[in-house]
Amino acid sequence: MKVFFISDLHFDHNPGLLNVFVDFLKKHKPEVLVVGGDLFNGSSRLGGLLKILKEHTSRLLFVPGNHDLWHSDTLGAVDTTEMYRKYIRGTVLRSGCDYLPSGGVIINGIGFAGTTGWYDAFPASGQKTPDEKLCFFPGLASPSDVVEKMAEDLERQLYDLETHVDRIAVTVHTVPFPAKIADSIEENILGYQGSDVLGNVIMKHDKVKHVFSGHLHRQFRARIGDKVWQSVAYGYARELSVSPEEHLLQCTAMIDF
Ligand SMILES: [Fe+2]
Repeated sequence: MKVFFISDLHFDHNPGLLNVFVDFLKKHKPEVLVVGGDLFNGSSRLGGLLKILKEHTSRLLFVPGNHDLWHSDTLGAVDTTEMYRKYIRGTVLRSGCDYLPSGGVIINGIGFAGTTGWYDAFPASGQKTPDEKLCFFPGLASPSDVVEKMAEDLERQLYDLETHVDRIAVTVHTVPFPAKIADSIEENILGYQGSDVLGNVIMKHDKVKHVFSGHLHRQFRARIGDKVWQSVAYGYARELSVSPEEHLLQCTAMIDF
């Protein structure tokens, strides 16, 4: 079973990328496509896009990124928890796709789990990030409260999946082991990349063999215990040093399960 994992396609920052990505899917024909979030800023265009992508794969599993959760195009009509649990879920299901945050998925004996995750702290620059302005999780005062909640959800999925399967792939939008990349990240934004709270949950579950993350637009791959952890973030056009086609090949994890 050919499964592709990718995130951070940021179609609103990458004009022309949709056609390139569709050609890429037509050429390589993944049976399952797992998308780890940050397709657009806001979610109003999400359903239309997922329908297009779904035409080129049998199953599409989606996890929102922080950008997908921004209230920029819903005028703040609902809070972020509602967006995450209800509105985006509905959009994804109506597009014929699976929504991983509402429960793990099993395909051909492989378990797929996923969460947006979150991070330990806003950047220490003093400037408000869009997340701070455009996301509101009622009852969760700080980013670390949000990440705790996301980690709890992930843990529930993993307990559930591991009673049914022997191998699980986790997709987390934010970085689950920021401490492992601490050397390469400026200290004032390290806390904003993700949280070890997520990594620690993942490490407790032996059947998790693959971990994919996005959010930080940088390619890396590491082995942690018996798990392979890989960034699958595409990023912004301005960050590319190769053609979009070449970059897609570099950042997409193509796994034959
Ligand atoms: Fe992100």
